[in-house]
Amino acid sequence: MSLLDQIRAKARQNKKIIVLPEGTEERTVKAAEIMVKEQIAVPILLGVRDEVLGVAKNLGVDLSSVKIVDPVTADDAAGFAAKFYELRKSKGITLDDARALLKNPLYYGSMMVYDNVANGLVAGAINTTGDVLRPALQTIKTAPGVSVVSGSFIMIVPDCEFGDNGMFVFADCAVNPNPTAEQLAEIAYSSAETARVLCGMEPRVGMLSYSTKGSGGKHPDIEKVDRATEFAKQKYPGLIIDGTFQADAALVPKVGKSKAPGSDVAGKVNVLIFPDLDAGNIGYKLVQRLAKAEAIGPILQGMAKPVNDLSRGCSVEDIVNVAAICVVKAQ
Ligand code: ACO
Repeated sequence: MSLLDQIRAKARQNKKIIVLPEGTEERTVKAAEIMVKEQIAVPILLGVRDEVLGVAKNLGVDLSSVKIVDPVTADDAAGFAAKFYELRKSKGITLDDARALLKNPLYYGSMMVYDNVANGLVAGAINTTGDVLRPALQTIKTAPGVSVVSGSFIMIVPDCEFGDNGMFVFADCAVNPNPTAEQLAEIAYSSAETARVLCGMEPRVGMLSYSTKGSGGKHPDIEKVDRATEFAKQKYPGLIIDGTFQADAALVPKVGKSKAPGSDVAGKVNVLIFPDLDAGNIGYKLVQRLAKAEAIGPILQGMAKPVNDLSRGCSVEDIVNVAAICVVKAQ
């Protein structure tokens, strides 16, 4: 069974309510029907009821078992606006600002998750990562003990002997342009949790750089990754982690042995932590396109409740898969 089939099966065991703010978007409407048919999640579509049903009718999609909520006319709209105002008034917003923002389905959906009306949120088929993330960061916020939300990808590389038979977690590929050393250490920890919970992997984390164990001399970029590795070792004693590694020293046992003798992790890494968003985002896309890897994500990590972003190029099946991931995280 493929990893995604396993995740879908796990979702079915304990379905959760997933809000889909892009309720008039065609792929999302089709995905909602599949989620119900395959019993993966209980979807809620946000939008003007007649518009959502109009899209469904044109597509021949049956939404008779799907709840549709219009953020503008919903009974709880005023209550959510008041709660949002309380959450954000220290940032200078007024109650009127809150009412206006809550008309935006991305804000309304985040408040549904914040208020436990839904267990998770999936969006991004027509909105940017930033637009999906901002309302969630302002309301749901980070999990206890976590200060930074990051985005990982599960990468499944065909015919690959490295990692866990070609399976890896890459991060941060989606959120933080220039993480500090402390943030990188947290990203390493969150990514190891993603590897454990979603992939069933025993994580071995490599902190990536253009230098292996000092080979690149002294440079602030290398020193940042060195400090991040030390922070992570101190803060998470159970975490199997080492660095700095060049990618080949992290992945290839022979190269790991020669470039980082004495490291238990070199050459065996299955969780790759990139030094910044440029490297992470470029890295996952290169592996996806050149090695024909399956890239599952971005999986948002470190949020207090699950919010998952989609790629704007996503397919209907991608949306169903991301919803299944969201359900498993909510479990
Ligand atoms: N973790 C936790 N909290 C955060 C994070 C984070 N990574 N980033 C921002 N916040 C908090 C802030 O502290 C702030 O909290 P407060 O308002 O309560 O004080 C709140 O979130 C809003 O922060 P802003 O700085 O106002 O938000 P910003 O406009 O910078 O947006 C965002 C943050 C959306 C994450 C931004 O950094 C971003 O757009 N990142 C890049 C996304 C991207 O384009 N990724 C690449 C494409 S994705 C792909 O290819 C898969």
